[in-house]
Amino acid sequence: MAVKLDLDDIQGLIARGYSTLPYARFTIFAAQDPAAAHALLSWLLPRVTPAGRFSGDSALHVAYTPAGLRRLGLPESVIAGFQPQFRGGMTDPNRSRFLGDVGESDPHCWAWGGPQEPPIDGLILLYASSPEVLDAGQADLTRQTEAAGIRQITVLDTRELGNNEPFGFHDGISQPVIAGLPKASGAAPAGTPGGRIIPAGEFVLGYPNVYGQLTDRPLLPAADDPRRLLPRDPGGSGAADLGRNGCYLVLRQLEQDVDGFWRFAGQATRRPDGAEDPDARTALAAKMVGRWPSGAPLVETPDRDNPGLGNNNDFGYYRSDPLGLACPLGAHIRRVNPRDSLDPQPGTDASLAVNDGHRLLRRGRSYGSGRSDGPALPGNDNPAVRLARNDVSPQRETGLHFICLVASLIRQFEFVQHTWLNNPTFHGLYDDTDPLIGSRDPRGATFTVPALPVRRRYRDLPQFVRTRGGAYFFLPGISALRYLDQLPADARSASFSSSATR
Ligand code: HEM
Repeated sequence: MAVKLDLDDIQGLIARGYSTLPYARFTIFAAQDPAAAHALLSWLLPRVTPAGRFSGDSALHVAYTPAGLRRLGLPESVIAGFQPQFRGGMTDPNRSRFLGDVGESDPHCWAWGGPQEPPIDGLILLYASSPEVLDAGQADLTRQTEAAGIRQITVLDTRELGNNEPFGFHDGISQPVIAGLPKASGAAPAGTPGGRIIPAGEFVLGYPNVYGQLTDRPLLPAADDPRRLLPRDPGGSGAADLGRNGCYLVLRQLEQDVDGFWRFAGQATRRPDGAEDPDARTALAAKMVGRWPSGAPLVETPDRDNPGLGNNNDFGYYRSDPLGLACPLGAHIRRVNPRDSLDPQPGTDASLAVNDGHRLLRRGRSYGSGRSDGPALPGNDNPAVRLARNDVSPQRETGLHFICLVASLIRQFEFVQHTWLNNPTFHGLYDDTDPLIGSRDPRGATFTVPALPVRRRYRDLPQFVRTRGGAYFFLPGISALRYLDQLPADARSASFSSSATR
């Protein structure tokens, strides 16, 4: 059934990653009091970019934590309708263990968002076409937050959007094709293993998900929305739908140890005489990712990079590579999107259908210069090759401000992070977490590369990525923002019913 998305009500970040706006800055804020929170939201509202109307040289989005929603006056009875993971927060001790935020990634060591850090109300994401436009937008925002008495807890800078993440691999290739958005209209009806059309309700609340149902979201009695600012529940309950056209936003600052990553790959692939083997080093790193530095998938070109395939996403695993001889079973991209490789029947539509329920819409941006800012070699501009040749500047802190958008925190982000990425027994393995970004605490420091006649095991993998901050946010639809903006008036007139529907 064709889905009609309300693009004028959906924040544009769901529809696009802003490749034409390569500069971005993310401001994490807390308001001192409700008046300040409302002053900021009233200023932001006309500036928020809807999915249906984007042109120009900047875009702005705003998302809230439960604390921020409370500050705006949303009552507990409505907050109770948000998913428990959102309400409990990313740093709940049980959740930290579940997400692998232990050891060096323990929230007590985080730069922001940890339990001893100031509570966060919300996040403002600003995108721009040039550094000047970004600086001007940020200066405007700062003036506004200062005037309103809003605290900027931290401002996360990103580096200019390019093809490569700091380890030197082409990133941003594979994304779900979302029903109802323009890309889906050109796609094959059923899609391909890499380009399956995923129901909009997997990424936008208030639309059918992979089960044909509406994912849980906060609803409130119609009487609590007398001005009919909110859409009504498409499920037919008559309730006002605060969740519709919104989604959850996961933000995690993931610091990458670029030197450590390439040092490990270099040492593990030394020749018998002890000399470095740059080609073998790059090949091992590619096995960890599942794509070559150019982005070419290992299932299609197992032995050498082929930049001509750099954007290729039209592949499955089971039919061409069931044993992981080309792309290891535990490689990063094979874990986070196993496509057709898992039960109930690998290689079939049933396997792909299960996988559809665990997709992530990624919107992250890298930060810091890392080592990939080294001088380009004549005729060879590939950062991974420059890194391998040590033709680079010293490392400064660098990493990924990982962002993903989902309708279900538990079934999508948390499942992928826990059950696929950090699971030492994923896909028949027994001591391997994600070789690129997995936690090694307490297990998982092995990387198995299937091969004939015998597989190769790399042991004592260091942890190359650690979490430095993070939080769960709700990215509301624009009607929901309008509703939140006028809340105090309604709250003061005590128009809220005592029980909100779930
Ligand atoms: C510093 C951390 C990370 C790095 C360096 C990294 C790197 C990469 C690279 C190089 C790719 C291949 C390019 C592409 O398909 O777009 C990729 C794909 C992907 N990554 Fe990550 N990633 C990181 C963190 C994460 C996390 C935390 C998750 C999920 C919890 C994740 C989920 C994905 C997904 C879903 C894909 C697409 C796979 C596919 O559809 O084939 N990544 N990542």
